[in-house]
Amino acid sequence: VTGRLAAHGGSPIRTEPWPAWPIADDQSAKAVSQVIESGAWFRVDGTHVSAFEQQFAEFQHARFCTTTPNGTLALDAALRAIGVSYGDEVIVPPYTFIATAMAVVYVGAIPVFADIDPVSGLLDPAAVSAAITARTKAIVPVHLSGSPCDMDALLAVASQHGLRVIEDAAQAHGAEWRGQRVGALGDIGAFSFQNGKNISAGEGGALVTNDEALADRIFSLCNVGRIRGGGWYEHAAVGYNLRMTELQAAVLEVQLQLHEQRQSVRERNAALLTDLLDQIDGVQALSVDERVTAHGRHGFLVRVKAAAGLKQRFVDALAAEGIPIGGGYPGLHTMPALADAIRRNTEFAGATYLPRSCPGTDEISSDALVLTQSQLLADERAMRDIAAAIEKVLAHRDEL
Ligand SMILES: Cc1ncc(COP(=O)(O)O)c(C=O)c1O
Repeated sequence: VTGRLAAHGGSPIRTEPWPAWPIADDQSAKAVSQVIESGAWFRVDGTHVSAFEQQFAEFQHARFCTTTPNGTLALDAALRAIGVSYGDEVIVPPYTFIATAMAVVYVGAIPVFADIDPVSGLLDPAAVSAAITARTKAIVPVHLSGSPCDMDALLAVASQHGLRVIEDAAQAHGAEWRGQRVGALGDIGAFSFQNGKNISAGEGGALVTNDEALADRIFSLCNVGRIRGGGWYEHAAVGYNLRMTELQAAVLEVQLQLHEQRQSVRERNAALLTDLLDQIDGVQALSVDERVTAHGRHGFLVRVKAAAGLKQRFVDALAAEGIPIGGGYPGLHTMPALADAIRRNTEFAGATYLPRSCPGTDEISSDALVLTQSQLLADERAMRDIAAAIEKVLAHRDEL
């Protein structure tokens, strides 16, 4: 690749803009204004939340779905529904969004980090087995960037030790493991419809399950302890108000319909980009298990070995070339605020706090760069620009 880096006055690889996200479509605007005009803004008065819950359950191959205001509270409710509480341990990967571990902290439990495999970016079943103690209650696999975890191995470990499995499927709408969509492969799956997600209403979340008793408990937890068919002031338990609004659900119904066509664009572009990146030395897209029958394609992680220790310079140089790219997550096991909260919950339970070393996470967080799902909605030329820009920056790495 010839030419000076754009950061040093050369011509950028790309000057065209990237697709906007979220996409302002007429159908969503119409759906929202119809809800406004109807006066039924609240799920109890309207039909959109219930309709979307049915549609999303079906979409994820699950029997039941309950929506929530966001994915973080969906995870919190999932943990409460399976009875995770003070002093319990919950195994989570350290390479994920902080909410995965925060939800465990909220319920008074202790997130225990089991490392990921840096080649796939996903929770390593062997690390999970090694992290199990007498206090362990649940495992939370995260289907990072929409890539399903090895659910065969994780469910086997869980069943061997009598543990529950909560899938953090916040990034994995429509993702499939051996023909079955994620979320209800384990006990409960938590989804997010936050602004950047492939299906979004700005904010939003959902829980799916195939277990009717858990679905009833989730309904109650999310509806101030009410029970289905019970009275308005009949509270069978102490719950929360985690109800989604009719406005959110009306947008989500439209977004769910628009999803399939958008997803096929992401899939086509991700396949092309993977091929292009594979041809560059020292560059690797995350591996995807061959048992995955549909990838959620929420974002795209690429490991650039030479970026280790120089990540911000790579990010800046690529941005100058017209390729905005993120630096990905710092390992959660390195975050002081989380460590303080975990230490508090651990000591409250009368146990000793042990910081965890997670070399797989350290490796990936040092060299992974992350494209957004909306960049995968661009055209084929854009994928070629991404690969060309990475190649160019690598060729000039001594000048960074
Ligand atoms: C893996 C993961 N878990 C949980 C969440 C939390 O979802 P929300 O932002 O809707 O609270 C997100 C997204 O933000 C996420 O990416």
